Amino acid sequence: MSRRLLVTGGAGFIGANFVHHWCRVYPNDRVVVLDALTYAGNLPNLKLVQEYENFGFVQGDICDGYAGQGQRTLVDKILGAENIDTIAHFAAESHVDRSILAPGAFVQTNVVGTFTLLESFRQHWETKAQPENYLFLHVSTDEVYGSLSPDDPAFSETTAYSPNSPYSASKAGSDHLVRAYYHTYKLPTIITNCSNNYGAFQFPEKLIPLMCINILMGKPLPVYGDGKNVRDWLYVNDHCQALDVVIHQGKPGENYNIGGNNEVENISLVKTLCQIMDELAPDLPVSPAEKLITFVKDRPGHDRRYAINANKLKTELGWSPSVTITEGLRLTVQWYLENSDWWKPLLSEEYQAYYRQNYSQ
Ligand code: NAD
Ligand code: DAU
Repeated sequence: MSRRLLVTGGAGFIGANFVHHWCRVYPNDRVVVLDALTYAGNLPNLKLVQEYENFGFVQGDICDGYAGQGQRTLVDKILGAENIDTIAHFAAESHVDRSILAPGAFVQTNVVGTFTLLESFRQHWETKAQPENYLFLHVSTDEVYGSLSPDDPAFSETTAYSPNSPYSASKAGSDHLVRAYYHTYKLPTIITNCSNNYGAFQFPEKLIPLMCINILMGKPLPVYGDGKNVRDWLYVNDHCQALDVVIHQGKPGENYNIGGNNEVENISLVKTLCQIMDELAPDLPVSPAEKLITFVKDRPGHDRRYAINANKLKTELGWSPSVTITEGLRLTVQWYLENSDWWKPLLSEEYQAYYRQNYSQ
């Protein structure tokens, strides 16, 4: 059966990598991206698939969804006109630091946006003769589980939610709505909770691209607090492969954790990036790049450690990550080295203003 997918947030980091993956592996499937093109959405991320016959793009807001009897909103129209059977929902405000500075947009897009999308999809799905072929995949985060102490076991699918930032609280709210739509309406939904992604097309404000770009520009590398916070890193292509497996084989109503089995302290990750850059980049403005490391004021409420137990996905659906952190970081550094045409335009006035505000606190 060929699918007809609506990918929300497909012009962002993970969404774009997912679209590349899907168009390459399933050329007979229809893929329509709905993206508001916020500061984090970037059309050049989709250049690779623009000529692809089965690809479509709509600029619009996921909050422009079901509005009541008789009113056809943007999302309703797309679902009907494109006969969508699968939503892969990536659209979100995704940056913790921005959620601390300005939380309103996070509640709007992550909670209200997910709700309106669910309502539109429910109205659409209820009229179908074969409702079992439909799926709402909600792409969520490990941050909903809160923070771990050094000796705590990794998050499993049954770990209680305990979000600590406006970002993670808004994602937790959206997860609860998705869960409720399965239990109340039997809407076929699946939630995935993934650890930190890295790879090509990640917006420059996130840790890994920020460090790569600052090294190339000879700017300080701002490490929060003591640098000993731990994240579990997953190469984005492995995340996309996991979502592929979940869409094809996952069970509606279930949650699946996705992780890389790569727990690393931030300071150690930043030093590794410096070493790879020293090796791969000729003529760095400051060398060795480690000289740029600067400890700065900690992120308020900074979660200490995340770790994902992804055994359910491995044992039930046969997925495990294929790219080691050593390989993945080299590929990523190389990508930022070769793609300054991609990232330079993103260091806009808006970006500089955000940067000043975030790092001068
Ligand atoms: P991103 O910030 O790079 O991209 C988000 C995309 O959503 C952008 O293209 C943006 O324009 C779009 N968008 C924002 N608000 C919108 C709206 N109201 N309507 C339509 N489009 C809108 O995010 P990302 O890092 O690619 O993350 C994608 C998803 O994966 C998010 O839901 C995030 O919570 C989740 N996630 C991210 C990570 C990670 O490490 N980046 C890890 C786990 C889960
Ligand atoms: O765990 C999954 C989450 O990973 C996703 O849900 C989020 O969308 C994604 O942004 C990411 O959140 P983090 O807050 O973990 O990612 P970030 O890249 O912002 O930061 C990673 C770590 O690095 C974190 O401990 C904070 C630290 N950091 C970050 C920046 C930007 C610094 O020390 N200095 C920095 O300048």
